[in-house]
Amino acid sequence: MKGACREVTRAGKTLGFVPTMGALHEGHLSLVSASKSRCDVTAVSIYVNPLQFGPTEDLAKYPRDLEGDAAMLEKLGVDLLFFPSDEEMYCPGPRTYVIVEGLHDKLDGASRPGHLRGVATVVTKLFEIVRPDCAFFGQKDAAQATMLRRMVRDFDMDVEITVCPIVREPDGLAMSSRNVYLTHEQRQQALVLQRALLRMLWEIDRGERASEKLLAIGKKMIADEPGARLDYFVVVDRDTLDPIETVSCGALIAVAAYFGTTRLIDNIMVAPAGSVDVR
Ligand code: PAJ
Repeated sequence: MKGACREVTRAGKTLGFVPTMGALHEGHLSLVSASKSRCDVTAVSIYVNPLQFGPTEDLAKYPRDLEGDAAMLEKLGVDLLFFPSDEEMYCPGPRTYVIVEGLHDKLDGASRPGHLRGVATVVTKLFEIVRPDCAFFGQKDAAQATMLRRMVRDFDMDVEITVCPIVREPDGLAMSSRNVYLTHEQRQQALVLQRALLRMLWEIDRGERASEKLLAIGKKMIADEPGARLDYFVVVDRDTLDPIETVSCGALIAVAAYFGTTRLIDNIMVAPAGSVDVR
């Protein structure tokens, strides 16, 4: 992979990179399209990174379909596909990790200890292997995107990060590889996530700015959905992930909840003049 990527760069072409864990859906493919429209050559990685899964999480049952994914990427005209084994990615007993202080332990990093450290470490390794000019991530994983932006800045990495909007199912559920775990009933219950976010958007448009009041509304909607168990519901600054009391431009409203044993996340960003991006 290093050889193939260096060849691209040596030829004076720009290299775009989309890291994934596979089980590809339209959300992933939107990142591929963004890369293809911006860069001469597009590389995708598929690697279910054990370092970002907790001991009781779904590493073993995480959906895998390398052949289906590869066919999809080939059809889209992806130039390079990297699917390393665990042995290739990690020598036994690795000792070096990347920790983004003050961000690795917020939101999903707080609920899933070690998760964001695992993400920062594997993305650093993948960036070193690929050395892309541009890399593409989804706003769906808001804490991850914020952390990686900061990591690239702190380490002076020569890569431009683009964060693309959340791609949703026609009924509004944010696309996720984990949606396949949901029963038909849970799939319906999970719609409460976007419904709660949209209701909060409506309240913001009507002039409500107090995070506490907005969160009370959102949390009640989750509590009223019998199949949902709230993990977190927060209004935070999009760059620091610290809670903010008054919603303003740049605020991120993020939610995580369990439906059965499946943990789903969703979020919206407050845009200028109180309007909110919920694409
Ligand atoms: P994965 O969950 O496979 O997601 C790969 C990329 O697709 C991430 O940047 C994620 O934010 C984006 N994505 C997922 N669902 C999306 C949606 N509905 N709309 C838009 N983008 C979406 O995130 C990871 O893998 C891993 O943590 C990784 C970065 C690959 C490191 O292991």
